[in-house]
Amino acid sequence: NDRTIIRGRLLSFLRKPESASDEGCYRYENDGALVIENGRIVACGAYAAVRDKAPEGTREIDHRPHLLMPGFIDTHLHFPQMQVIGSYAGGLLEWLNTYTFPEERRFADAAHAGRIATEFFDELLRNGTTTAVAYCTVHKTSADAYFAESLKRGMLMLGGKVMMDRNAPEGLLDTPEQAYEETKAVIAGWHGRGRNHVVITPRFAITSTPEQMEAARTLAGEFPDLHIQTHLSENHDEIRYTCELFPEAKDYTDIYARYGLLGPKSLFGHAIHLSEREADAMSETRSVAVHCPTSNLFLGSGLFPWRTYERRGKPLRIAVATDVGGGTSYSMFATMAEAYKIQQLLGERLNPLESFYHMTLGNAEALSLSDRIGTLEPGTDADFIVLDAAATPVMKLRMETVSTVTEELFLLQTLGDDRSVVEAYVAGRPMKQSLSPA
Ligand code: GUN
Ligand code: FE
Repeated sequence: NDRTIIRGRLLSFLRKPESASDEGCYRYENDGALVIENGRIVACGAYAAVRDKAPEGTREIDHRPHLLMPGFIDTHLHFPQMQVIGSYAGGLLEWLNTYTFPEERRFADAAHAGRIATEFFDELLRNGTTTAVAYCTVHKTSADAYFAESLKRGMLMLGGKVMMDRNAPEGLLDTPEQAYEETKAVIAGWHGRGRNHVVITPRFAITSTPEQMEAARTLAGEFPDLHIQTHLSENHDEIRYTCELFPEAKDYTDIYARYGLLGPKSLFGHAIHLSEREADAMSETRSVAVHCPTSNLFLGSGLFPWRTYERRGKPLRIAVATDVGGGTSYSMFATMAEAYKIQQLLGERLNPLESFYHMTLGNAEALSLSDRIGTLEPGTDADFIVLDAAATPVMKLRMETVSTVTEELFLLQTLGDDRSVVEAYVAGRPMKQSLSPA
């Protein structure tokens, strides 16, 4: 029996915040505790109440004065792009062709894929991200390396072998048949093993022929419980070229609709420049628009019209993500700090409660996994993090002026980085302290 009491200032969301002062959307315990056992949370509440119910002599770990919250969730990033972050390029297509495609070719080599997988999972945990949804490369070896590393660490991770059979260099292309067979092999080998989830992953319409899009449709039909991920409407040159490649489609979104790829488990990276018709198609199918703020700014892709999407008669489901290596940080703090600035430029506000809701419960809901992750509810997986809003000299000084939890969250978002993540627990096990030094 490995029952443990974890004490700290607890914060978790119960539902989406309705305003910046919505006190009912979260639970906060100034002296709170979790009880964890066999990788699950079994109790959550005020420390005194939790301790009274625990057997005499139960082990205790005290994280006060730090915040305890659910682990962060990153809903879109690229595992093989660790070594292209911050590559100097004009826009998306130039960036892909000049840096990203050549780099991804290296993942045919299992040793390279294994080395980067170790670094990748270390970096996620350093930043407090306990679940992520990643693109691997076209090579099955990359997916094998990714899921093996995830299994070793006991993490709830989603990912997929990329399907791409055109408009990319030699060594980075499969065929419709190969994409179908290898995706099936990845599903057979990894889906449901440990906490792994395999995702059907056609990269985007530019790099899949109609025949390969058909293969994606077939996979989606055979495995209706699996998530699907792709890119949508990120950049004007991309949109123009995509529509040329599929002249029969009404617009970019309609291409994916024609191949049966819209739905409540479908994650569309970026989705910045959607027409009204496209936004309707997304909301009617409960598809998820995945906002990637640092990437959108770095590649100059555009300003995600968050409030426009949300204020529609039929609101879009929205998730948030880093999109590393188009994105420039693994940190969900940096990600939401940039999301905030994008909304500032659009004359809108994104309040700190919303930000932290989206990094945790919001992203869990977007993945239909809030019964397992994203909260501190008893019965869910013990994936949680310990945060210090005074981790640096500047933060410490600024904290002297902070009096509410909301202000503390905003400070963490604006100034925080991996130094603010004191610990990351995965299925009840502390993972960060044992990593090799950053
Ligand atoms: N669209 C297709 N592939 C990619 C990628 O790797 N990164 C980004 N940002 N957009 C893409
Ligand atoms: Fe991406």
